Amino acid sequence: MSRAKLAPSLLNADFSDLRKAVSIIEGIADVIHLDVMDGNFVPNITFGPLIVKAVRSITSLPLDVHLMIAHPAEYIEDFVKAGADWISFHIEVTRHPGEILGLIRSHEKRAGIVLNPQTPAQRLFDYIDLVDFVLVMTVMPGFGGQRIMPEALGKVGEIKEEASRQGLQLEVEVDGGVKTENLEMVLEAGTDIVVVGSSIYAASDPRQAASDIRAIIDHHMR
Ligand code: DX5
Ligand code: ZN
Repeated sequence: MSRAKLAPSLLNADFSDLRKAVSIIEGIADVIHLDVMDGNFVPNITFGPLIVKAVRSITSLPLDVHLMIAHPAEYIEDFVKAGADWISFHIEVTRHPGEILGLIRSHEKRAGIVLNPQTPAQRLFDYIDLVDFVLVMTVMPGFGGQRIMPEALGKVGEIKEEASRQGLQLEVEVDGGVKTENLEMVLEAGTDIVVVGSSIYAASDPRQAASDIRAIIDHHMR
């Protein structure tokens, strides 16, 4: 049984000091989760390729770029140039996810599809052979600090069953409301990568919070 990966989300970090925000998780995180929001697909605006490029310049960790935007196909190249390593977009914004997955992979980047909490796993199955990972939202996208929606976790198992039925290798990432109190439940669901935002960056001691989460993940493997 391999260890799950930790993907801290910078969404609730102090953007006035990105170097500090990244240093908090260096040596603890496996990848950095960057939440791109356009104020169109979700009712919030965060940042674009400029910030991805800035984070790229201060860390060698892989960058996991979560596109909560209405027209992802138009921006894939910009995020690739900015230094994204993993790029995921919401299946809810397109009738042609296969084309966007192909575009991401044509740049040799890891391609992911994101499912909102209410979107059934079956929506993905026609394209499951084209993804490197699936991002299962356990909150409505748009904001950090929300409560987890545990009913969405069942999709992790459904996706992994379908993947093994088709003889496919893919990872399932869970995003939203993950905290030390519910992390075991998230890992029990079969999650390979956990996104954790506010319970690290809103903590009184963010680095300690990140280390505590890392310890639970490592313990779960044994
Ligand atoms: C929400 C983002 C999540 C969020 C996670 O739309 O996709 O990545 O920042 O933050 P927490 O862990 O605070 O829910
Ligand atoms: Zn996210």
